[in-house]
Amino acid sequence: MNLSIKPIGSVDSEACAKLLKEALPNDFLSMLGERFIKECYFKELSLAGNGQSFVLYEKNRMVAFLVSANSGGLLKQVVFNNKFLFFRSVFQAFFRAPIKFSMTTISVLFYMLNPKCQINKPNVVELCYIAVNETYRNKGVGGKLVNEMINYYCLLENVFGVYVKTLKQDIDGGAKNFYIKNKFLLEGECNGRSLLFRKLTE
Ligand SMILES: CC(C)(COP(=O)(O)OP(=O)(O)OC[C@H]1O[C@@H](n2cnc3c(N)ncnc32)[C@H](O)[C@@H]1OP(=O)(O)O)[C@@H](O)C(=O)NCCC(=O)NCCS
Repeated sequence: MNLSIKPIGSVDSEACAKLLKEALPNDFLSMLGERFIKECYFKELSLAGNGQSFVLYEKNRMVAFLVSANSGGLLKQVVFNNKFLFFRSVFQAFFRAPIKFSMTTISVLFYMLNPKCQINKPNVVELCYIAVNETYRNKGVGGKLVNEMINYYCLLENVFGVYVKTLKQDIDGGAKNFYIKNKFLLEGECNGRSLLFRKLTE
């Protein structure tokens, strides 16, 4: 197989959305439709991810992808997404209804004023999505993507560790063993889903 891996880009979003629907048909996002995933979710995650999400091609065909996001990236996203709400609620709070100081305002203010704010510090990475085209499974492709993320992003950025929440066991086996094979340790299980963590630095 002539495989190549590259950071995810907006040109990949259509193929990613298709693969997500095929590989994880019961996932919440898949139910929302390809167009939604393409337009909204992948754009946002690849921006928040800053090069820690990857696609794998065989020649011109995209056969797998991995989307992850660091805690800082996600937080930035939350702050960004809530900017409008933030200003609206500040406006309301000061000029219209001081009592309606929303939770959004309070949480964004908290992050802004907190001296220990770690918005730019990628401490812990969440492996949000991984999917391999069915005909390419069990050939080491998924493992390759996980290693790419760890070697070419996490270790360079001194990331403390990577965590993942699997799907429910009864849907697809939950892929728990896949993560265990890739050196993740089982932290716990809840509602048929497993939480696994791979520590990278001391
Ligand atoms: C999970 C997935 C990404 C693994 O990719 P892959 O390229 O097939 O994995 P690799 O070839 O690197 O590793 C294969 C090993 O992982 C295990 N594995 C793969 N998928 C598994 C699953 N769903 N449940 C349990 N174990 C799994 C295999 O048993 C195999 O172990 P073996 O070598 O002892 O036989 C792929 O099966 C997939 O896309 N599944 C559908 C989407 C999905 O479930 N994503 C994970 C959401 S939490």
